[in-house]
Amino acid sequence: MTMSPLLTIAPDDLLVRYSLDSSRLGQRPTVQRRLADLRGSFADVAEYEAALAAGNPVVYEVSSVEPASGDGQLHYGLGVLQPGRIGGEYYLTKGHLHSHRPAAEIYIGLKGEGAMVLEDEATGEVRLVPLVAHSAVYVPGHTAHRTVNTGAVPLVYLGIYPSNAGHDYSTIAARNFRHVVIATASGPVLVERQAHLASLLKS
Ligand SMILES: [Fe+2]
Repeated sequence: MTMSPLLTIAPDDLLVRYSLDSSRLGQRPTVQRRLADLRGSFADVAEYEAALAAGNPVVYEVSSVEPASGDGQLHYGLGVLQPGRIGGEYYLTKGHLHSHRPAAEIYIGLKGEGAMVLEDEATGEVRLVPLVAHSAVYVPGHTAHRTVNTGAVPLVYLGIYPSNAGHDYSTIAARNFRHVVIATASGPVLVERQAHLASLLKS
């Protein structure tokens, strides 16, 4: 006799409570990413090194729930991304592709103001999509995704993804996103990385 799928899920995986003032999902541990962990992510290297010399703050934390793995199963995580800037660039997550490239994901904004950089791996097509409370962002498969905090308070969100998605950070670490999100007087603007780097050399 096969066991009911329902009974294979632990009770504390069936219901998980969270607070918008904490980065923990239930009693799960959080993974912290500090400024030192984000070397290579920000375009302005001089500003990054100066900020790091002044301190090594937590930039974001993620807590994950993984009730079951296998075909059709879902995992999800709560992310809390602090406000801040390095040069003109907003605090950001490392960003990733899914190891299983076709895997899509849903991000649900819970608190704060931010945006997601969505970049097609093959073509480089890019979209900057707001990630705010009362909104959901669809991340298609084959799309690199990164979160930025464009506001003044922590950005809190949930990400829900297939259990077999996997996280490929190394592809982004090797070549980075082709675009950066820069703070301007009129708000966040998406700029080509190479153009931004050229403007930094001139200034
Ligand atoms: Fe993802």
